[in-house]
Amino acid sequence: MKPVLVLLVSTAWTFTGAQYYYQGLMDYLENRLLAIEDRMQFWHEQSRRYHTELLDFKKLTAETMDGLRNEHSMLFKDLEGAAVRVDQVEREMDYVETQTSPRACANKADKVVEQGVWGLQESRGVEEEEDDWEELHSRVSDCVEIISGIRSVKILKRVGGPKGVWTRDPRSSKVYVFNGTSGDIIYQFNSVRDFSRSPGVTSSRQIRLPSDWSGAGGAVYNDYLYYIQQEGDIDLQVVKYDLLSGSVTDIAMFPVDSHATVYSLNSETVADLAVDDEGLWLLYATSDSEPNINLAKMDPATLDIEQIWDTRCPRENAEAAFVVCGTVYVVYNTRLPSRSRVQCVFDVNDMVISEEAPLLYFPRRYGAHASLKYNPEEKQLYGWDDGYQIIYRLTMKRKLLV
Ligand SMILES: *[C@@H]1O[C@H](CO)[C@@H](O)[C@H](O)[C@H]1NC(C)=O
Repeated sequence: MKPVLVLLVSTAWTFTGAQYYYQGLMDYLENRLLAIEDRMQFWHEQSRRYHTELLDFKKLTAETMDGLRNEHSMLFKDLEGAAVRVDQVEREMDYVETQTSPRACANKADKVVEQGVWGLQESRGVEEEEDDWEELHSRVSDCVEIISGIRSVKILKRVGGPKGVWTRDPRSSKVYVFNGTSGDIIYQFNSVRDFSRSPGVTSSRQIRLPSDWSGAGGAVYNDYLYYIQQEGDIDLQVVKYDLLSGSVTDIAMFPVDSHATVYSLNSETVADLAVDDEGLWLLYATSDSEPNINLAKMDPATLDIEQIWDTRCPRENAEAAFVVCGTVYVVYNTRLPSRSRVQCVFDVNDMVISEEAPLLYFPRRYGAHASLKYNPEEKQLYGWDDGYQIIYRLTMKRKLLV
């Protein structure tokens, strides 16, 4: 009986033990399942959120894509339009070029033919004339430029009095300084750099001329100095001086009223010499009653006057002028100096139409220009302003033709 009881008790105990064990296991599993369920719920929610986000994103992308597609087609249409216009402009440019080139040469060619006939009468060799033709032809075709703007300004230094001239020989690169409004001394420097490094005019070569220059009219080209001389207050003369040999090679008279000055704001300048790609020019006033600036084209070799024009540019309030490619640019200011500006343009070839004549404003400076000298090799202006020596770089464009 006793072992049976023990067995029973032990079995009961074991049964109860097992029951507890299974219960614990069940509880544990249930908890795990709940936790898993929770987590699945969480994932589910998250994936749903991702899904809606993805849908939103898809919608957004679709909309953006549509927008882009529209813009693309619009851009494409614009580009097509632009291409058509570029084509048009190109065709117009071609047309203009075919129109300009022959006409620029034709004008000059007529002159050359005349010269040729004249030359034959003078019994000159035929070969020589053909050479002349070639030279003139190519030189004229190159020069079809008009100033489009002032690109930059450089104030180099301050030497001398409020008025004067400085200029650079386009051929030799030497720099010449005329201090004041008259005198018989000029200063020569080997280069712009030498001039800018020089303390005053001490490192220069002094050149004493056989007569006084008058006003800011001097010009230098190919080692020749051209200057204005007023003898006995009556006649105006252009003097050609050989800077290498130190002697006067030519003098030309100009029958004008000595009291008339070419620019009303620089009354010391009775006449002004200018050099450009086409040669030597004289700007002058015939008399006090004549309101406009006159222009003469001179032969730089002989000082012969080849042609004369009335520029129709007023002398009143004019400060300076220069010639570029056969076109005169007159610079105006006010008695109380403000900003200088090119306000009148005259083209001897009638190639610059008034619509494209530039209204050029010079940058604000100290006083007013006493002189402006153009250098055709560098396409820049040498200005003298209240003793400051200034370089203006110019930008050019091709002349258009109507
Ligand atoms: C330049 O001219 C001014 C007067 O215009 C004079 O005072 C000055 O001494 C001159 N300078 C030189 C270097 O000749």
